[in-house]
Amino acid sequence: MQIDLRSDTVTQPTPEMWAAIRSADLGDDVLGDDPTVIALEELSAQLTGHEAALFVPSGTMGNQIALGVHCRPGDAAIFESDSHMVWYEGGAPAALSGVMTKTLPGIRGAMDPEAVRAAITKRTYHTPATTLLCLENTHNRSGGAVLDAATMGEFRQIADAAGIPVHLDGARIFNAAVGLGVPVSSLTSQVTTVNFCLSKGLGAPVGSVLCGPAAFIEEARYLRKRFGGGMRQSGMLAAAGIYALNHHVERLADDHLCAQKTGEALQGLPGICVDLDEIVTNFVMVHTDRPATDWIAPLEAEGVRALPFGSHRIRLVFHLDIPADAPGQIAEAFQRAGVGLSSGSPA
Ligand SMILES: Cc1ncc(COP(=O)(O)O)c(C=O)c1O
Repeated sequence: MQIDLRSDTVTQPTPEMWAAIRSADLGDDVLGDDPTVIALEELSAQLTGHEAALFVPSGTMGNQIALGVHCRPGDAAIFESDSHMVWYEGGAPAALSGVMTKTLPGIRGAMDPEAVRAAITKRTYHTPATTLLCLENTHNRSGGAVLDAATMGEFRQIADAAGIPVHLDGARIFNAAVGLGVPVSSLTSQVTTVNFCLSKGLGAPVGSVLCGPAAFIEEARYLRKRFGGGMRQSGMLAAAGIYALNHHVERLADDHLCAQKTGEALQGLPGICVDLDEIVTNFVMVHTDRPATDWIAPLEAEGVRALPFGSHRIRLVFHLDIPADAPGQIAEAFQRAGVGLSSGSPA
């Protein structure tokens, strides 16, 4: 059996999730009467401590709708320089909302609060209005790194003092909450708006939920339609999301443990290096001596699928389709692939 560590988006619905999908009550969500979508939105708002919520097809759409509602064309928004919204959303801030991205370096996803304060410009004859601060938790390019509630609260205070909102790309905010051992609302209530993904560690096939104040969500619903994200009998997808929120949150700890054990099993293998301190949620970043791309085919031949993530880094992402005994198999695959690479023969 292949161990697919390319992303936590690759999961298949469990039989119980399929049963929830099959038995969902459906309506037409664009007309506002799909009861299962309404139930998912209410549950999401309640869990995150926000007034209202909106079911959207993807994390990218949720983030970009938020940007479009918070900002006007020509405004600036602040992002950590390795953030998903800057790197992997197809230039959407500029293309869809005319928003200028101001990026600040971070350490494991956390920007320097003083640098954030200094980067918030008022609209003058010369400078754009900075109208949004964006955070990402967990932080994808930083290997699933976590921002705790105190750090998030500090950013909120800076934004409040400047009179601007904070949007959280919380694609994996439930991993952050489980990793920290806190209720998700202690993190999500720190921000003005949050988007979280159902289709990552939570194991649903499709969808994200954007949460925030009721007036914001009303405007977001309008933008969702404009972006082509209005869906009809989407209750069948929402049912999977409800099932995931009710049954797949606590088990994220299993994925974190599997990541940790894999990191330990990989220690000392030739050609690679793993920093155990970097493993705090469901990612393992494997630093490679040779170019990361050299490893991918040999690893796949040994039954492990993974993605290169930078020139000398491979990302392993753990999720509910990875069995608990995978760490040993993954380490063996790295060992055999490494032997093939060093001997120059195909692994
Ligand atoms: C941190 C982060 N934000 C947003 C997204 C976008 O989600 P989607 O693939 O559903 O558009 C991802 C997807 O990997 C992500 O890792």
